[in-house]
Amino acid sequence: MTLNELDPNVAAAARPMRVCVVGAGYVGLTAAACLAELGHTVRCVETDPAKLATLSAGGMPIHEPGLSELVANHRGSGRLTFTSDVVEAMEDTAVALLCVATPPRLDGEPDLRQLGHAAIEVVIAANSDVVLVVKSTVPPGSCEALELLVGGYTADGQRVSVVSNPEFLRESEAVWDFFNPDRVVIGAGRADVGELIAQLYPARWPLLVCDRRSAELIKYASNTFLAMKISFANEVAALAEALGAEAGNVLAGVGLDGRIGGAFLTPGPGFGGSCLPKDLSGFIAVADSVNQPAFLARATQRVNDGAREALVNKLEATLGCLSGRQIGVLGLAFKPGTNDVRHSPAVGLAEALVARGATVRAHDPVASVSGTLFEQVVDPYDAASGADALVVATAWPVYRRLAPKRLREVMGGTIVLDAADALDAHTFAAVGFDVYGVGRGLPTLFAPVLWRPLEWMVDTGAVDTLVTQ
Ligand SMILES: NC(=O)c1ccc[n+]([C@@H]2O[C@H](COP(=O)([O-])OP(=O)(O)OC[C@H]3O[C@@H](n4cnc5c(N)ncnc54)[C@H](O)[C@@H]3O)[C@@H](O)[C@H]2O)c1
Repeated sequence: MTLNELDPNVAAAARPMRVCVVGAGYVGLTAAACLAELGHTVRCVETDPAKLATLSAGGMPIHEPGLSELVANHRGSGRLTFTSDVVEAMEDTAVALLCVATPPRLDGEPDLRQLGHAAIEVVIAANSDVVLVVKSTVPPGSCEALELLVGGYTADGQRVSVVSNPEFLRESEAVWDFFNPDRVVIGAGRADVGELIAQLYPARWPLLVCDRRSAELIKYASNTFLAMKISFANEVAALAEALGAEAGNVLAGVGLDGRIGGAFLTPGPGFGGSCLPKDLSGFIAVADSVNQPAFLARATQRVNDGAREALVNKLEATLGCLSGRQIGVLGLAFKPGTNDVRHSPAVGLAEALVARGATVRAHDPVASVSGTLFEQVVDPYDAASGADALVVATAWPVYRRLAPKRLREVMGGTIVLDAADALDAHTFAAVGFDVYGVGRGLPTLFAPVLWRPLEWMVDTGAVDTLVTQ
């Protein structure tokens, strides 16, 4: 999206304010630049010296379409500045958006220490009334807990209100999503504070104002549902493959139902990234903390855990064994359009192949991973060179434009496992590749598939008579 595509009628905040944004990551940097575009004056605090140096030098620490233009424009307009000094950022400012990470702990429960720390810093720096707006994804109860926590650090007479304003943007479409929200959710303990924060956004945007716990749960429940759709798609795809049905057709047909919708109904190597796995385990941890069963969420997690292993097993079945084999892996980012490799199923897949004794050479157009046991190359044909099999793990559009004939010439084998459904299988098959995917590829035994329906159609014992006729 370019800025010119923004509708000028919606691209203005209800009330321009001075705001501080804490954290210049995917959410904070996007929010800071987009809020500046809406007319606010934004000071963005970032503690990572490398990130801050990049931003101060006019560079971009993340790959996000449209964001570098917005940042450059508003550094120029003077409405967007970066600093490591929270006191400077809070000068004449009564609103701070907290956009720090809330990663999972090893046990899956959320680690909220960055949030607590950032909130205390802001409250001490403000030294006067302040509204903390939590954009980070947090378990229900966190905003109220944060109010209690910072209460121990307030100056005499200083009033701190904490508002929940969860962020729903998708990496790779962050700027577009910010300006085209399905909804802006604001959870506030006091109506006047909720109204003030609503004025950060254009009045015409769809707004849901509610209590804080509900706002926090909306975010957790939304991501859990999206993860559930992906796991459901993987389960249907596995079933389609076993039955000899076409997974792509089945899921397209299911998604065309307006009550279901086709988004996120895509089989593949499983969901990853910094949000869905973390928010799903957070949802489960929250449910456990109040003794509520989270059956669907747990099943979603189990299906996702099995997705990578199913792919590795499929490759092993097609190659005979993985030990000593050379595999090319295309894609490392957790999805196309981003350089984010946090909890990337593509990286997990490459690592799992190495763990089973294969040598892996991987390519990604923008992402890279440090400290891996596999080689990373800058040309996809290099990744394929001499490979017994090629795995497409991230659906980057550039992979659809690869020349199958050239790949066939450089590879040693003929196996292509298109886990991301990124290729045109027919053109690859036409030059002699054996193309497999999720829900597609392995030979199906048709007799058992028909046997049970036959048994369900006629009286017990009659099937034997039927099939011997
Ligand atoms: N990434 C997404 O697509 C996305 C979407 C919606 C919601 N969220 C949620 O938003 C939150 C942030 O996610 P992210 O992906 O932007 O994280 P991130 O790790 O990319 O960015 C967080 C930034 O905060 C900085 N930081 C930490 N403590 C700080 C402090 N005290 N002062 C200043 N800077 C500080 C870090 O250095 C880092 O740059 C998380 O809770 C996440 O779940 C993320």
